Amino acid sequence: VGDEPIRFDTFAETNSVVRRYADATFGSLAGTITAASSREGAAIIGGQEWQGVRLLFLDMSSMSSTGTFKDWVACVTIGCCLEENCQTFITQSSGNTANALAYYAGRAGIEVCILYPAESRYKINSKLAGQDGITFVEVVGGEPMVKLCAEALEDATGLRWLPTLDLQRIGNGLRADFVNEFLAVRGEVIDWHAQALSSAFGPLGFYGRLEVLAERREWHGAVPRFLGVQQEAVSPYYDQIYGHAAWSDASKMVIEPTLFRSNPGNVLVDGVRRICDASRGRIMVLRNDEYFDRRSAAVGLLEAAGLHPTQRKKPDGTFGFLEEAGGISVAGVLSEIDAGRIRPGETVLIAVTGGFCPRTDELFEPELQIGGGEWRHQLDQLGRQVST
Ligand SMILES: Cc1ncc(COP(=O)(O)O)c(C=O)c1O
Repeated sequence: VGDEPIRFDTFAETNSVVRRYADATFGSLAGTITAASSREGAAIIGGQEWQGVRLLFLDMSSMSSTGTFKDWVACVTIGCCLEENCQTFITQSSGNTANALAYYAGRAGIEVCILYPAESRYKINSKLAGQDGITFVEVVGGEPMVKLCAEALEDATGLRWLPTLDLQRIGNGLRADFVNEFLAVRGEVIDWHAQALSSAFGPLGFYGRLEVLAERREWHGAVPRFLGVQQEAVSPYYDQIYGHAAWSDASKMVIEPTLFRSNPGNVLVDGVRRICDASRGRIMVLRNDEYFDRRSAAVGLLEAAGLHPTQRKKPDGTFGFLEEAGGISVAGVLSEIDAGRIRPGETVLIAVTGGFCPRTDELFEPELQIGGGEWRHQLDQLGRQVST
């Protein structure tokens, strides 16, 4: 076998989960939605054990067009734009959805204005951002400022802010069809389903679709218990669901700026509370020291399954991981196993949402930036530019 890592127990859709489940999910719209499709591949791999617990990785990164699970949502979003003849829209993102939307919109000739926080600049793919009709705008002032600017831009232009919550649910619902097929074909049982959280769109889509399949008696097996993993600096779901208002500690280092949603609002919090209750799951906070203690073990497990994290060149010339969300999910699970809260004999499906894609070392240089005392004026100018 040599030094090549083993990808064992692979159950894969190497081409497109969107196309694979289009008829079941989109009905008469399947033709237009799949017209937007590029590569939205996925695989379930692994089978290694940690303290007697079996770990399966749901790889939604290495076979996707821009390297994250956001491609599925971006594909469905652009498919809907084609269906509804929507030529231009606005959006906000901490980076990965931005790249995904830029890619799928660019291919379809649809225009989009994307606001992203300065902290995520290193995620932005300069080739995707440089396409005609794609406008990237850097916002200084963190998540609240990005949201404020997106709302103001929506008001000023009258353009739609996509993807809507429904599109997030539909795009991420495909995960349930894929996992369900794996369970049926392999006769497998999954006890837990874990993912690092930002807005929780992924799990909300997954459990929403699972519920529909279960009502139709089409879901194979039991409902996997949900484990949502939050980093120490940004843990609103944990805080709001369990009432630990003081847990989120903004003074702590943000390990992964993509996981930036600090104030998800009642609809999303209630949704996450409901899936925790319905699946007998929970939200956990992975403290930074726990993460750093387990990161090399987590990466070792991913590498043994054939998943090599993409490195990025930092401005100081050193290298780091492009995306920590996959590592955070795995480390969170290891921490729960070590604490005895996931038991020997159980199987955990860990969502690897990003971080395993071709590397680009070219750093993005923004042409447009909004922030500081002049932000309203800058936004007005942007609104006029986007509308014309
Ligand atoms: C790579 C990656 N993982 C995880 C997440 C969290 O996604 P959500 O909480 O919306 O399911 C994001 C969202 O930005 C992401 O880009």
